[in-house]
Amino acid sequence: MSVDPAVVPQWRLSSGALVPAIGLGTFGSDRVSAEEVAQAVSGALEVGYRHFDCAAVYGNEDRIGQVLQGFPREQLWLTSKLWNDKHARDDIVPTCQKSLADLRTDYLDLYLVHWPFPNVHAPGAHVDSRSPDARPYVHEEFMETWRQMEDLVDRGLVRHIGTSNTTIPKLQLLLRDARIAPAANEMELHPHFQQPELFDYVLAQGIQPIGFCPIGSPTRPDRDRTPDDSVDIEDPVMVAIARDHGVHPAVICVKWAAQRGQIPIPFSNRRNEYEANLEAVVSDPLTEAEMRAIAGIDRDNRLIKGQVFLWRAGQSWEDLWDIDGTIAS
Ligand SMILES: NC(=O)c1ccc[n+]([C@@H]2O[C@H](COP(=O)([O-])OP(=O)(O)OC[C@H]3O[C@@H](n4cnc5c(N)ncnc54)[C@H](OP(=O)(O)O)[C@@H]3O)[C@@H](O)[C@H]2O)c1
Repeated sequence: MSVDPAVVPQWRLSSGALVPAIGLGTFGSDRVSAEEVAQAVSGALEVGYRHFDCAAVYGNEDRIGQVLQGFPREQLWLTSKLWNDKHARDDIVPTCQKSLADLRTDYLDLYLVHWPFPNVHAPGAHVDSRSPDARPYVHEEFMETWRQMEDLVDRGLVRHIGTSNTTIPKLQLLLRDARIAPAANEMELHPHFQQPELFDYVLAQGIQPIGFCPIGSPTRPDRDRTPDDSVDIEDPVMVAIARDHGVHPAVICVKWAAQRGQIPIPFSNRRNEYEANLEAVVSDPLTEAEMRAIAGIDRDNRLIKGQVFLWRAGQSWEDLWDIDGTIAS
């Protein structure tokens, strides 16, 4: 069932660059080892993926780099991300260079600020744990970080820069002050969390949305689960459409994402799954009625709430997401 990479749709960024309309996620969710993620990248290359969503904090870029080594670089789209503990002015260039060295490449296609907060926590920390050094979003500090991101573009180390886990109020300030605007925004997007306002806003600004947890992350770590979370792939609408297409509901999540205009980056280390996800974007499109039916099942169900990045005791995770249109301080 392998897919010819030449037939995988691509989106054109504001720079004119083309990016494959699906990528493979590479976060093993504390469950899949770095070695197994690297094997998935290797298998994904074989079945036709050319876009990989990486991050320093996933702890596997070195193993992924070993797999990518020798593959024609111009055929790949590689994204990496700056982790929260490396926002300081002097950390950004060396941190990017470390990802480049680990991934065995001279440049990244896209480098994202993983979260707009410089707040860190121990790996696997409980959702109630708070760093004593955690701070709210401070735009002037973020712009210091962004200036270094722009410097990475000037140096030719990265081709595009972007944001992740951000909000409209924060993007408005960034677009006002940036010399180089974000080319893409990575955001949680799945049928039960469609973020229509932010989605429409980034598109209107010429920023490409990249959708993480496109399947609703059914295997996410326990710390990212709350009792009210819903399960996209069990939604009766998704199940019925999947039955009609003869595929798993996960594949319908991917089809919907690609047709809506976001770039899904599903993860799987099972070959049949990542192959089916790639096949989803080149075959058997959803009808307008099916797209409308999925648009109707949004539940505003954010899964990755980010509690560990809060900066004060007694806060609610909503404070990270500027829900009332203002940046919480
Ligand atoms: N920017 C950010 O802050 C951020 C945050 C979270 C994630 N991400 C990125 O987004 C990527 C994807 O997110 P995610 O891995 O959390 O969630 P996801 O892609 O929504 O869900 C992945 C899980 O879905 C199942 N699955 C995948 N394809 C399937 C198929 N065809 N049929 C049936 N089940 C399927 C797999 O579970 P089984 O193995 O049990 O089948 C897999 O572990 C990450 O790897 C990472 O690169 C970015």
